[in-house]
Amino acid sequence: LTASSEPVTCFAPSNIALCKYWGKREKELNLPVNSSLSISLGHLGTQTTLSLAEVDQVWLNGERLTDDTPFARKVIAFIDLFRRDQAVTLKVDTRNNIPTAAGLASSASGFAALSLAINQFFALDLSDDVLSAFARMGSGSASRSLFQGFVEWEMGQQEDGMDSFARPLVARWDTLRIGLVKVATGEKKVDSRSGMTRTLETASLYQAWPAQAARDISRLHSAISDKDFQLLGETAEHNALSMHATMIASWPPLVYWQPDSLAAMQKVWQLREQGIPIYFTMDAGPNLKLLFEAEYEADVLTAFGEIEVVSPFSAVP
Ligand code: PMV
Repeated sequence: LTASSEPVTCFAPSNIALCKYWGKREKELNLPVNSSLSISLGHLGTQTTLSLAEVDQVWLNGERLTDDTPFARKVIAFIDLFRRDQAVTLKVDTRNNIPTAAGLASSASGFAALSLAINQFFALDLSDDVLSAFARMGSGSASRSLFQGFVEWEMGQQEDGMDSFARPLVARWDTLRIGLVKVATGEKKVDSRSGMTRTLETASLYQAWPAQAARDISRLHSAISDKDFQLLGETAEHNALSMHATMIASWPPLVYWQPDSLAAMQKVWQLREQGIPIYFTMDAGPNLKLLFEAEYEADVLTAFGEIEVVSPFSAVP
């Protein structure tokens, strides 16, 4: 391994799954029960700088983390996957331009940016497929954050996980918009890893999930190739609510919603009744991500106030 003497900086976008990754068939390698399909958030994500240092150190948004912080431990454990020579000690400087741990998947962009930086820093020259499989080991959804636009993570079949990686779809959809409704931005109490374990072990509703995910992936492919926004939105919203149904059916119950989450959902349903095609999706947190097309942006801003609106394809060349 030859480490770079110069610092290396890489960026990776955050992503939002339209068909969710929920459940691991193998926990150490982060092998999923189902394939998933996402859309990346362009300029919103994580920038990570790697440089040589006297001792390993992890910085998050300008502050040095103590070594026992869960995030710092995960980052160092991840670097150890690549670093056989422990004598190489590193500073990892991670900056998110999205709220950390607010259900906006900063772990996805974080481990994707870190994977890209490691690849460059140690001149590993890994292919996109292998890099995505490695990023997956940091955080499952990180496998998808290496790419912009629509991205599909194939669950794979192999035990070593080397066929479980993401690839970008060739399609683009320039008029698609994503609105970020921030209900709460604090750290969540149950992270997605423990949430998945609890759901798998205690929710009998989970048995229905893999088949629904497979059906939703194929619907999303049709929606994307036909530019059928209604099919895209209905599939994404139904998929998210079905995932949350399995969480709610866990024991102890896993409810990420807050009263304002439900109020925002009701606003979406009201807008639809008024003829405005708008849908939402949600991850393991209280925030909503709205899906709509550019021509309805003014209506959405009137209804939701000054929310952040992302044009996911503006960053796709
Ligand atoms: O990648 P993880 O372990 O943070 O899990 C992500 C899980 C969801 O965000 C709920 C769904 C997804 O596919 O991103």
